[in-house]
Amino acid sequence: ATKYKPFPPINLPNRKWPSRVITKAPRWLATDLRDGNQSLPDPMNFQEKKEYFDLLCKVGYKEIEVAFPSASQIDFDFTRYAVENAPADVAIQVLSPCREALIRRTIESLKGAKKAIVHIYLAASPLFRDVVFNTSEEQYLSMATKSAKLVRELTKDNPDAQDTQWQFEFSPETFSDTPLDFSLRVCEEVKKAWEPTVENPIIFNLPATVEMSTPNVFADQVEYISTNISEREKVCISLHCHNDRGCAVAASELGQMAGADRIEGCLFGNGERTGNVDLVTLGLNLFTQGIDPKIDFSNLEKMVEVSERLNKIPVHPRSPYGGSLVVCAFSGSHQDAIKKGFARRNNAADPDSLPWQIPYLPLDPGDVGRTYEAVIRVNSQSGKGGAAWIILRKLELDLPRGLQVNFSKHVQDEAEFKDRELLSDEITDLFERKYFLAEENKYPY
Ligand code: KIV
Ligand code: ZN
Repeated sequence: ATKYKPFPPINLPNRKWPSRVITKAPRWLATDLRDGNQSLPDPMNFQEKKEYFDLLCKVGYKEIEVAFPSASQIDFDFTRYAVENAPADVAIQVLSPCREALIRRTIESLKGAKKAIVHIYLAASPLFRDVVFNTSEEQYLSMATKSAKLVRELTKDNPDAQDTQWQFEFSPETFSDTPLDFSLRVCEEVKKAWEPTVENPIIFNLPATVEMSTPNVFADQVEYISTNISEREKVCISLHCHNDRGCAVAASELGQMAGADRIEGCLFGNGERTGNVDLVTLGLNLFTQGIDPKIDFSNLEKMVEVSERLNKIPVHPRSPYGGSLVVCAFSGSHQDAIKKGFARRNNAADPDSLPWQIPYLPLDPGDVGRTYEAVIRVNSQSGKGGAAWIILRKLELDLPRGLQVNFSKHVQDEAEFKDRELLSDEITDLFERKYFLAEENKYPY
């Protein structure tokens, strides 16, 4: 990723700029198989979950929330599969409400795991406490701490469960809508109940269960917890941003700058309602700033294909990085700029040593396994450069300017006649028809 620059240069004397940056990848938690799956019109079956789980492991996610085991037999059974088949360095995370019987069933599903994260949640906002659960703050604290103690008794304090490396995660669900002093009190009490260590910190997940505010407000909330929680070194601050206002990526990024250590999300932003934060965008945003995301995006098309097929939801063609149209230019002026950028790069003595600087292309398509052919596509709006690029790449003919102008007229006519984009084979066919085969075009210009 060193070929990408972290941010544009700026000359602002006497001012620290940028005020904050992200300097390393967070701990990632992929919740595609839990939050993502629970939001699908047609949830994944066992076989589909397996395939998705394999993909997540393959590309490098080390913490994967695989299920809600107390909710269904499929989820319980799938947790068993994940426990038995996960690579040794992958922690299996499962979710449970703060209810004794459900916690017991959840922990049963993890029996024999090498690495496991027990994640329990309880909605903390006044709206949920008053309207949904009818609980006071004191009742809430008692439920949360009792549940944390139960998890502790069944896991790290259980002599029969010592073959597992246990981690514990608590989510004050609806954190983004909860008064901060109460959230902090909850975290302090739950921490006391669990007694974390520096080596095995407690994970406090701060969810924007519903995104409520601009990303800076969420980041301020995160910063308040991160800077005021006691024994900060024994705490991992995790974020779980939903995208109701379309700002989940920004909120997660500002949240990291505000102190968060870990990010929960789904590939391509699947998840409840408007989705969980998109892990692909976050990862590749780091990559294009020269920071190693620690996830392998070199076959992004495969990630798109698996996500679309198993979630049965398309990745939007304009989805950042993964969308089918995001590395394409149709318009003449964009094509011309891209072509010039590539020409400068290709003519350099050692192109690979140059920073990536191609107009309109923030990411080298080759870095995510895409071809350069797809970068320039031709329709009736394209100029001479687009068709010339395709002839150069497919027929290895570098057309002189006059021929480019002449050919682009034919291309435009053909695209208007067909009333659609022309595929590259159609463009090479047209070229051969016009200049090599047709008698009347023997001397085209
Ligand atoms: O969105 C949310 O708050 C959740 C919790 C269970 C973490 O999914
Ligand atoms: Zn969620």
